[in-house]
This record gives sequence, C-alpha cells and structure tokens, in this order.
Amino acid sequence: MDRILVTGGAGYIGSHTCKALARAGFEPVTFDNLSTGFERLVKWGSLVKGDVCNEADIRVALREFRPVAVIHFAGRIAVGESVVAPWLHYAPNVGGTINLLNVMREYGVSKLVFSSSAAVYGLPKISPVNETSALLPLSPYGRSKLFAEQMIADFMHSSGLRAICLRYFNAAGADADGECGELHDPETHLIPLALDTLIDQRKKLSVNGDDYDTPDGTCVRDYIHVTDLANAHVAALRRLLVGATLPSALNVGTGNGFSVREILNAIALETGREVPHVIGSRRDGDPAHLVADSTEIKRQLEWAPKHSELNRIVNTAWQWHQRERTHGAMRSNA
Ligand SMILES: NC(=O)c1ccc[n+]([C@@H]2O[C@H](COP(=O)([O-])OP(=O)(O)OC[C@H]3O[C@@H](n4cnc5c(N)ncnc54)[C@H](O)[C@@H]3O)[C@@H](O)[C@H]2O)c1
Repeated sequence: MDRILVTGGAGYIGSHTCKALARAGFEPVTFDNLSTGFERLVKWGSLVKGDVCNEADIRVALREFRPVAVIHFAGRIAVGESVVAPWLHYAPNVGGTINLLNVMREYGVSKLVFSSSAAVYGLPKISPVNETSALLPLSPYGRSKLFAEQMIADFMHSSGLRAICLRYFNAAGADADGECGELHDPETHLIPLALDTLIDQRKKLSVNGDDYDTPDGTCVRDYIHVTDLANAHVAALRRLLVGATLPSALNVGTGNGFSVREILNAIALETGREVPHVIGSRRDGDPAHLVADSTEIKRQLEWAPKHSELNRIVNTAWQWHQRERTHGAMRSNA
C-alpha cells in the first residue's frame, strides 16, 4: 500500500484527507506537532509527532515511513493573527515548507500536494476568480502561501519535484459519519462561529459589514465541503502518481457564492433557531465577493463537488459542533 506523508494530518482538513486517502487505498502517515491539531483526529494511520520547522523531525518521518508522496497542510491559518504576529506564520508556512522541500529532495520523494489559499489573490478585480488572476495577497498569511507556492515552483524547475498547489476557498462542514470536523481555537470561520452562538447563549455573532456591493450587503464567499476538498487532494495525488502533467495551481471551490445572510438563513432553517448577531464594521481587506472559477480543477482532475450543497455543509457542521462543543471535548487532545 502506498504511504502518503500528511503534514498537519491532525488538523481539520488534514484529518478528512487522511480518511479520504485510507478509503482510496493509501496509507496516510500524519506528521504533526499538535499545536492546533488533535491526536484523537488521527484515526487512519500512524502519527509522527514532529515540527516542520525542524528538518531533523521531517528526516525521521521520511526515513522511517518512506512515503511515495507528501500532502502538506501544516501551518498557521488565522489571517488576523498573521497581521499582528507575522513571525508565527512565516516560520512554519515558509520556513517549514523549505525544510520539507529540502528533506524530500534528500530522500528522493518527488510528489507534493500543497495547501494554498484563495488569500493569494488578495482583492481580485473579477469574481469568480480564475488561476491566472493577479497574485496580490493582502496579509502575511496570504504572502506566506504565495512564497511557498513560488518556492515549490523553483524546486519543480530545478530538482524534478512534481507538485500541485491547491488554492482553497472557504472550507466548511464536517465528516458525514461524525469522525472528524472543525476544532479551531480560536475559531475565525463564519459557520462554526455562528453555530457557537446557538450553544453558548451569551455569544452574539458579529457580521463584518452589511454595506458591501452585494445583493444583501454582506460578503459573498465560496463554501466548499471539507469532504469534497479532501477528495480533491486524493484526485490530485493520483494524477501526480501516474505522471500526469498538471498546472502548478488549481482553485478548489464550487463556483457558487453565498452571502453571510444566506448562511445565517441556512443555519436557521437547519437548526430551527435564529443566529443572534450584530452588524459590526467592515474588516480590512475583505473583498465583497470571492468565489472560485472552478473550471480548471473540474477539467484537470475530473473532480466535482458532491457534498457542498449549503444545507449539507450546515447540517454536518451542526452535528459535529453540537457534540464537540456541548460536551466541552474541544480542548482535550486525548
Ligand atoms: N480552513 C480553511 O478554510 C483553509 C482555507 C485555505 C487554506 N487553508 C490551509 O489548509 C491547511 C490546513 O488548514 P486547517 O483548517 O486544517 O488548519 P488546522 O489548524 O486545523 O490544521 C493545521 C495542522 O497543522 C499542524 N501544524 C501547525 N504548525 C505545525 C508545525 N510547525 N509542524 C507540524 N505541524 C504543524 C497543526 O497542529 C494542525 O494539526 C493550512 O495550511 C491552511 O493554511 C485552510
């Protein structure tokens, strides 16, 4: 069975991808320092505790497990945090990626799927945004993803690396079997924040502006179910393993946009409860409309979203959220 090293496999998207890999007949090996991930989400293969900031840790994993490819999720993800503490992002997201590329080269591991982000586009002039749009990230987080993409391109050019960067839009939802889901702490994503207010009555959601140039004034985003996202990784990996020529980067989104108000309405419909909220001010650097043009990924990977209907996203997130947050299991790593 082909082994795949999954950095960040104890996290939200990484754990769903490990499940998808196992289902597809691969053996995932998680490499994670558990800084924001959870040991109890590592269910589909071994866990190597290690830090991408430390080349020696990566070496141990590659020597012991000899993977045929790497899927690289490990890193910091909160955009706001990256603005106040950029070092927290550049060290793992850029430094960790160069370490990984170096050690992969040393061990002759030449296939890589990399977690990039729609944040590389910044404020695109046109939405849906396609892969040829200008790359003008607005935050250290977005820049860290762009630098990593550029380093990967240089390694592809110079040392035979075969890689693809997947630029995710808004990952959302949870595993339909309830085996994994979103556990960010602090949480910054709309759907879990809104669901939190239904569990903790003291909380109110702050909507970041309702005066945008969109049909209802709130920001429009492209929500992709995490299971569809995980399956996109498996599809990309398969293509790399058979030696297919792929573009250097692909958007992963549905191509459909939903406003914040539409999300809140979907939550009310699914849970039978209105989300208590207040209208706050706009957040710096938030585009009004950010939706993926997903033509290329559908063509290149023969992949299509199958789980990303809004009610399904909300329903799976709600099932997961109720169990996790109600029982206060969140901080437990056991
Ligand atoms: N969640 C989204 O909507 C989204 C959107 C675009 C891109 N991404 C990217 O997807 C990837 C995964 O995001 P996520 O939402 O699953 O986040 P997450 O925080 O749940 O997962 C990140 C994982 O990486 C691990 N990690 C962090 N620093 C590490 C280090 N130095 N060494 C080893 N392991 C380390 C964490 O412990 C965690 O398990 C990230 O690279 C993120 O930038 C996420």
